[in-house]
Amino acid sequence: MKYSKEISRRRTFAIISHPDAGKTTLTEKLLLFGGAIQVAGAVKSNKIKKHATSDFMEIERQRGISVATSVMSFEYNDVLINLLDTPGHKDFAEDTYRTLTAVDSVILVIDSVNGVEEQTRKLMEVCRMRDTPVIVFVNKLDRDGKYPFDLLDEIEKELNISLHPLSWPINMGKEFKGVYNLYDKSLQLFTASQKSTEENTVPIPNLSDPLLDEKVGERDANQLREDVELLEGVYGPLDIASYRDAKVAPVFFGSAVNNFGVKELLDTFIRVAPAPLGRETDKRFVSPEEDKFSGFIFKIHANLDPRHRDRIAFMRICSGKFARNTFYKHTRLEKEVRFSNPYSFMAREKDVIEEAFPGDVIGLFDTGSFKIGDTLTEGEQLQFTGIPTFSPEIFKELVNKDPMKTKQLEKGIRQLTDEGVAQLFTQHGGIRKIIGCVGELQFEVIQYRLLQEYGASCAFVPMAFYKACWITGDKKAIDDFVRFKQGNVMEDKDGNLVYLAQSEWFLNTERQNNPGIEFHFTSEFKTAMAK
Ligand code: G4P
Repeated sequence: MKYSKEISRRRTFAIISHPDAGKTTLTEKLLLFGGAIQVAGAVKSNKIKKHATSDFMEIERQRGISVATSVMSFEYNDVLINLLDTPGHKDFAEDTYRTLTAVDSVILVIDSVNGVEEQTRKLMEVCRMRDTPVIVFVNKLDRDGKYPFDLLDEIEKELNISLHPLSWPINMGKEFKGVYNLYDKSLQLFTASQKSTEENTVPIPNLSDPLLDEKVGERDANQLREDVELLEGVYGPLDIASYRDAKVAPVFFGSAVNNFGVKELLDTFIRVAPAPLGRETDKRFVSPEEDKFSGFIFKIHANLDPRHRDRIAFMRICSGKFARNTFYKHTRLEKEVRFSNPYSFMAREKDVIEEAFPGDVIGLFDTGSFKIGDTLTEGEQLQFTGIPTFSPEIFKELVNKDPMKTKQLEKGIRQLTDEGVAQLFTQHGGIRKIIGCVGELQFEVIQYRLLQEYGASCAFVPMAFYKACWITGDKKAIDDFVRFKQGNVMEDKDGNLVYLAQSEWFLNTERQNNPGIEFHFTSEFKTAMAK
């Protein structure tokens, strides 16, 4: 329990949303409150352009910049907040899923006009798999959006979570007058400004107070009274334990671009969000309070400079204290490693740090010894779990265009897949290589980086596969299956057997024909079964 004080003052989280819902804008406002940036627009200018599909230089530039912005640490009211950025572009969804393994909670931004969108659904699924506590921020109340009760209904049904509103809007769009904070029992009047909202906050502990009519008009005051009566009847007070168990998601309404409702969100967040939590390993549960250090790599970023192949590995500290220049055990390689320049990401400046505590994310220079999911400890042989690989959505065969550069291509593709840019499947008992990605953009990135960083040129031939399923079962069933389905059975880069199904129909047929085999949609078989 040596580091309890450090642990309890940390909050590590990510903001997730469908592109355009307002994630970047909200991030920026939170950083302004934390004093991490001084001017609005600082985050915006670094943002991955959502529509840059083939501008390679743009990708390069963004890749570098996003190293600086992928973790943003700042202090607010004595709480050390580690905000992990997730890429907005859907082609980098896998990166987002992995980042979510390193956080203890998330804020989900929903656009009040568009409601639940495709990425919102997918991201929520990942949160549910891991029981990550969620706070919902319904954004863009200054626009004519969906009726709030309908929106709550939609979110609950579509995302399969129970909500608990902590604030409630008074109208929306042009008529938007503000939100009533159900937690603090205060009214916040909307002004379309970037200023602090304190001067517009009016305490109204009793809703029958005529002050409410004075502030928002009789009609809206009465509507609010009705709404709040209904809400309090249905929801009652928030049960923080249920939120932390990921059973209930508190909801706030606001407008990020107007900095409205953001401070309330942040104030509540630091009060209710969980401090750093423990993590499962292949051997046992590791608690953050343990004295001995442990941590895992959840993201690897190539260096900006293509002449150097060193990379930055992002490590989440899970227990104990990490110290600079100290030997730790790299459990996959079973070797001792130490770091002379570990980085923290305080206030957008990368600083060398001497120590770090559970919940912190640090950057480690890596010359190729890390893979996603690698674990460092003070000697204990264990491996953190819960960092699964998901089935890709697009598959292409990798074709070597320059036989003189075969070695470089092999090395390049191995390193890029270690970074998690894409997944590599090698034909079982053969040499064909199939690359699986979530989006087309990743193939462009791979092709470009193989050429730039490894001097290898390649082409991709599209393959009509629908899903990759990791297969397990008794030996005879697996052996028979592999023999009959040779063309479809591959190995992932850890040597696990994977079946590539052409369509859902094929997958279902194989499942019926092979009751002795289990088909899994992620590489971690316990967490999610193929449906
Ligand atoms: P993202 O990171 O989730 O993709 O969203 P981002 O913050 O970039 O916001 C997407 C667009 O929505 C931006 O407009 C942003 O200004 C706008 N926005 C964010 N919050 C609000 C809000 O509360 N109300 C309204 N009306 N708009 C909001 P844009 O036109 O794409 O960019 P910009 O030209 O404004 O920078």
